Amino acid sequence: MVVEDMFYFNKDILVIKHQKKSPMLLRMSLLMFSMVCGVFICYVCLKQTSIHARTILLELQQIEKPSRSRFNLIDISYLHYPNPVTFNRSECAQNPVQLFAILTNQRSGSGWFETLLNSHINVSSNGEIFSVAERRVNVSTIVQTLDKIYNLDWFNSASKNECSAAIGLKWMLNQGLMEHPKEIVDYFNCRGVSVIFLFRRNLLRRMVSTLANSYDRYAKLLNGTHKSHVHSAEEADTLSKYKPTINSKSLLADLKDMERSAATAIEHFNTTRHMILYYEDLLRNRTKLKEVLEFLGLPVIELTSRQVKIHKGPLSEHINNWNEVAKTLKGTTYESFLQADYSS
Ligand SMILES: *[C@@H]1O[C@H](CO)[C@@H](O)[C@H](O)[C@H]1NC(C)=O
Ligand SMILES: *[C@@H]1O[C@H](CO)[C@@H](O)[C@H](O)[C@H]1NC(C)=O
Ligand SMILES: *[C@@H]1O[C@H](CO)[C@@H](O)[C@H](O)[C@H]1NC(C)=O
Ligand SMILES: *[C@@H]1O[C@H](CO)[C@@H](O)[C@H](O)[C@H]1NC(C)=O
Ligand SMILES: *[C@@H]1O[C@H](CO)[C@@H](O)[C@H](O)[C@H]1NC(C)=O
Ligand SMILES: *[C@@H]1O[C@H](CO)[C@@H](O)[C@H](O)[C@H]1NC(C)=O
Repeated sequence: MVVEDMFYFNKDILVIKHQKKSPMLLRMSLLMFSMVCGVFICYVCLKQTSIHARTILLELQQIEKPSRSRFNLIDISYLHYPNPVTFNRSECAQNPVQLFAILTNQRSGSGWFETLLNSHINVSSNGEIFSVAERRVNVSTIVQTLDKIYNLDWFNSASKNECSAAIGLKWMLNQGLMEHPKEIVDYFNCRGVSVIFLFRRNLLRRMVSTLANSYDRYAKLLNGTHKSHVHSAEEADTLSKYKPTINSKSLLADLKDMERSAATAIEHFNTTRHMILYYEDLLRNRTKLKEVLEFLGLPVIELTSRQVKIHKGPLSEHINNWNEVAKTLKGTTYESFLQADYSS
């Protein structure tokens, strides 16, 4: 509906142009027109977000069917033509850009996922921008930060060039996201930001990774340095030698909390255009990455990462009080976390 109206207006502009009235009158009427148009679009944007989201859901279901064209899958309001103030998009000014946000938790594979995305020549995923507390003190600072990123004016090592076709960041649920869900959902829907949820299915493994990572923050096992992500099998071996002890008394409640927090996030952001990814599925099946690229309207190419997984093999080898943990989870809905395993 929005789209049709905009095309209709464009035709009007053409008609006015051809009439060659006095330049002053023409300019005035164009000015008036663009003001009315702006107000109208903003009104529609605010008004239509819920209807819009439903349309997108329908379209998402159609993504199953492979298609050659990048754009017939994606609603036009998710394609942007940013006008950065710090540089000129020059030859790529005509290439549309998609905006995205990866909503996730610490130790859920998002570092690895981001290196995969950034190996694509047209993707800039700018990392954990909101780990810096000043950027998330209130909604205005959050919006200012997002505006700068989505306008392509944010510079860091992930920044590409004028030909970026998808731009985004990863955002941890505990970094202001769940404190202002309504405002952020409105922003996402109004600006046409697509959401990629990235979660882990095996929350016990996430717990091991979290405990080991916070231990290493102090122990600095790799020659006196702390690393959250590693690039060689030796480094992974060294880090995985430490076996955390899990608090079995609070284990069930802790797992339930982790589960609930993910469910709440999906519920809050359910009106956005989104997809849900699981770390385990990405590890097991690279065709998931193809789905991500299609979701972002990007040319599908092979993605690569140099990161190496730290905790491989059965969990029993990575938990100090394994028997106690196993006993606690036996017979509960979380029992499968004990068995689930990956070899690579
Ligand atoms: C941006 O670059 C294009 C072509 O390289 C040029 O035509 C245009 O004038 C430039 N725009 C600005 C604002 O510098
Ligand atoms: C948000 O925080 C910034 C920086 O601390 C401050 O300057 C600004 O006034 C605050 N805005 C609101 C609406 O509270
Ligand atoms: C991707 O980047 C390349 C090189 O910078 C550019 O030629 C191409 O047009 C870009 N593709 C898209 C879809 O923006
Ligand atoms: C630590 O130091 C040893 C000996 O100097 C070296 O062989 C090894 O590669 C270093 N490891 C890392 C992770 O830097
Ligand atoms: C989103 O979640 C809310 C709260 O659970 C629910 O009322 C609403 O129907 C959901 N909307 C969609 C589009 O799923
Ligand atoms: C990988 O995922 C795709 C769809 O995402 C599915 O069709 C395919 O069967 C999966 N392959 C394996 C080996 O699980």
